[in-house]
Amino acid sequence: MRIFIDSADIEEIKKVKEYGLLDGVTTNPSLIKNAVRKLKEKGRKLDVESYIKYIFRVVGKKVPVSLEVVGQDYDEMIREGFMLWKKFKSCGNVYVKIPIDPCIEGKCNRKMDGIRAIKELSRRKVRVNCTLIFTPEQALLAAMAGANFVSPFVAREEDYIKKIKRKDNGIKSGIDLVAQIREIFNKQKVKNCEILAASVRDVRHFREVTLAGADIATMPLSVIEQLVKHYKTREGMKRFTEDIVPEYAKLVGYKKQ
Ligand code: E4P
Repeated sequence: MRIFIDSADIEEIKKVKEYGLLDGVTTNPSLIKNAVRKLKEKGRKLDVESYIKYIFRVVGKKVPVSLEVVGQDYDEMIREGFMLWKKFKSCGNVYVKIPIDPCIEGKCNRKMDGIRAIKELSRRKVRVNCTLIFTPEQALLAAMAGANFVSPFVAREEDYIKKIKRKDNGIKSGIDLVAQIREIFNKQKVKNCEILAASVRDVRHFREVTLAGADIATMPLSVIEQLVKHYKTREGMKRFTEDIVPEYAKLVGYKKQ
């Protein structure tokens, strides 16, 4: 399992790096919006391009950083995808995020543009993270088109299932979505594409996507920090600390903290 931070906030990214847990970074337009708002609140001058270059400098050359296109048709996604690739490929390990289906609700007649864009970008050696995955079929088609990562949205799938009060076309939960993708990838011998569990909003999600066979989980900093917490761990620390005898403190050179 690899851990990515789901954030465009440089301070948060730095923290995960300091923890020694930074395997990658995922962003989306909403996360960029949060980071931009935070910078503006601090009164910082904003240049998004330099800011993203700064993220690449912090994470290092090999760590994957996903940047999302915002266009809603093939031509625009290809244009933006190449632009992001060209601008940042010399800075580090860019992944271009392409939605599996860029249509907004009903108003669209270019239903396969996501797949076409993945195919074209991957043909031209651009690494792709296919996003907004809510069915195993979407994941399989993205992988067949050449995506390097597929991002199933765990919590959003759970929210949706709660809302419709039934399974989502045979999918029981966000975790079940990841498990079904894993099973299909294994049975179909998909080797070129990793499952990047996204919308992982709590510790249970992390544990269960791990069990379901995700290769990577992307999470906000708050969830990453929750992964080591337990009431009994802290209670145990308190008791052990109370029991330190001076002789043992002297042996290990312990000074009261
Ligand atoms: C990842 O890149 C996704 O955009 C993200 O994990 C979505 O998470 P959310 O559903 O908590 O917004």
